[in-house]
Amino acid sequence: FTCDLIRNFSIIAHIDHGKSTLADRLLELTGTIKKKEIGKNEQVLDKLKVERERGITVKAQTASMMHPFGGKQHILNLIDTPGHVDFAWEVSRSLAACQGALLLVDASQGVQAQTISVFHIAQERGLKIIPVLNKIDLPAAQPERIAAQMQSTFGIDPEDIIQISAKTGRGVDQVLQAIIDRIPPPKGTATGPLKAFLFDSMYDRYRGVISLVAIQDGILKKGDRIASCHTKKKYEITDIGVLNPEEIPVNGLHPGQVGYIACNMKESAEAHIGDTLYRVGAVVDPMPGFKPAKAMVYAGIFPIDTSDFPKLEESIKRLALTDRSVTIQRESSTALGQGCRLGFLGTLHMDVFRQRLEDEHDANIIITAPTVPYKIVYKDREVYVSNPTEFPDAIDVSSKVKEVQEPVVKASIIVPEEYFGDMMDLCFTHRAEELEHKYLDAGTGTESRIMLNCVIPLSEIVTDFFDQLKSRSSGFASFDYEEAGYKPSNLVKMVFLLNGKPVDALALIVHRSHEDAIGKLWVKKLVKVIPRQMFEVPIQAAVGKKIIARETLSAYRADVTAGLYGGHVERKMKVLERQKEGKARMKRMGSVDMPQEAFFEIMSSK
Ligand code: GTP
Repeated sequence: FTCDLIRNFSIIAHIDHGKSTLADRLLELTGTIKKKEIGKNEQVLDKLKVERERGITVKAQTASMMHPFGGKQHILNLIDTPGHVDFAWEVSRSLAACQGALLLVDASQGVQAQTISVFHIAQERGLKIIPVLNKIDLPAAQPERIAAQMQSTFGIDPEDIIQISAKTGRGVDQVLQAIIDRIPPPKGTATGPLKAFLFDSMYDRYRGVISLVAIQDGILKKGDRIASCHTKKKYEITDIGVLNPEEIPVNGLHPGQVGYIACNMKESAEAHIGDTLYRVGAVVDPMPGFKPAKAMVYAGIFPIDTSDFPKLEESIKRLALTDRSVTIQRESSTALGQGCRLGFLGTLHMDVFRQRLEDEHDANIIITAPTVPYKIVYKDREVYVSNPTEFPDAIDVSSKVKEVQEPVVKASIIVPEEYFGDMMDLCFTHRAEELEHKYLDAGTGTESRIMLNCVIPLSEIVTDFFDQLKSRSSGFASFDYEEAGYKPSNLVKMVFLLNGKPVDALALIVHRSHEDAIGKLWVKKLVKVIPRQMFEVPIQAAVGKKIIARETLSAYRADVTAGLYGGHVERKMKVLERQKEGKARMKRMGSVDMPQEAFFEIMSSK
């Protein structure tokens, strides 16, 4: 195979616009997989259980297809990208292995926030973009209107847009033709020194890490000895092949080809996305733009039963073998005992990890409130703090802290005009700055959509922002963001006192303008979950020496379990079950009992 007969492409889209469905149709049309009953909707490319449950793609999956054009077999490599803002970085990396992308837009929904962000990523990478309007079978589809929207938003010529229904298969053959006609083949030479671009990895219990690579130059074969530009570690190829979408071993991968390799890598963390692999002994320049994934959200994870810690730590480590973007550190808390502090790409990533711990490792855990990495600027150095207990108690001359900075993101929200006021309000209450807006399609009256851009602290969006965005726009708003560095901010550490004693695991970092509201909210929550004592217990929120809020837990009278639990019924059952098993323990906080279950309740309540 020569490069001319290869096309490497990706499908990029907002969540639910039909990426997986189109991928399935392409695989069927090329005979890569057998045709399924239409409407069954079990996607081939989505593999993880949590993905199926949530209906979103978390982990990218890739497949190669063979298809004849002009009498010649061509290889079409579909590089799948994950579909969520947390994984924007992975999207960007996977796109580096492509020369083109199908920009898929739902003809009933129109351009959404993520459509815009993925379009920009693809454009920055210089990819050929093929615009595709999907779901034209829907009665609510408005292909002309959405085509005009794509023209005004992206400068796309409506003539270039292919209209399809991924569900019924209509128009999908035109997409195949366009991939061949419009996307340039990869460039590379078989004689050049080996350069393989690592764009994704997965974990196999038996073989360790399986990396997905796109060959730039040279030929990669089984038994070859390779090294990583990033880590300088050396490996031997033990297994090599293409994905159809299941693994098919091959003798070698040629320039322009995409495939998998196994090379005795033990941990996913060794497979750096964006890394360049080369032949041991050769000298090559790494392909540009390598940046490691950055954890943006941190949380402490503790076992409900503290004696379970060794098992929990083992489970976390095992799970992390399969997820290269999680960072792990041990953490110990007076209130919760031994635990781990984990770093995630975003809150969805955190949720997915938590759910996998519970589903696949049967873990019973307490997860603390998420925190972003803050930057503490001292006179002579800068320190990143992602655990509230390490945050300075006071920021003044005595603490030698010059200033505190927090990560901010550039956010864009797309929403029908009627919700514009609510969205502005939401942004203001979440400390947004540099607000701007523009109409996506002018002059269409009540149907017109507005795009709102702003700079907003990351900490504001890791809490309830997304839920509020959805509820205040009746589900119509879409949202995306990208990192935008750090900004100085007036942040304080809030601690909670039970009977005058601070509970470390409850400490929070909050913006000064929110301290009253958050202090009041949390003491109200606490008073509900802490069991009554033989005496009155003050529950206080404090910033420095100042008490912000206070509730008083009245003395014990009758049934302690009444009013102890709120929240999810299933979780409650689980907790009660565990109690029955005699596993429940009480932690003594000074003279006040703070059961693990109370932490669980407070951390899982919204
Ligand atoms: P993520 O993996 O979360 O990014 O979603 P996705 O973009 O892969 O979307 P998916 O293919 O899962 O499709 C979302 C929903 O739209 C599913 O219920 C599909 O059955 C439906 N769908 C996809 N294409 C079409 C289409 O052409 N017509 C209709 N009517 N429904 C479609």
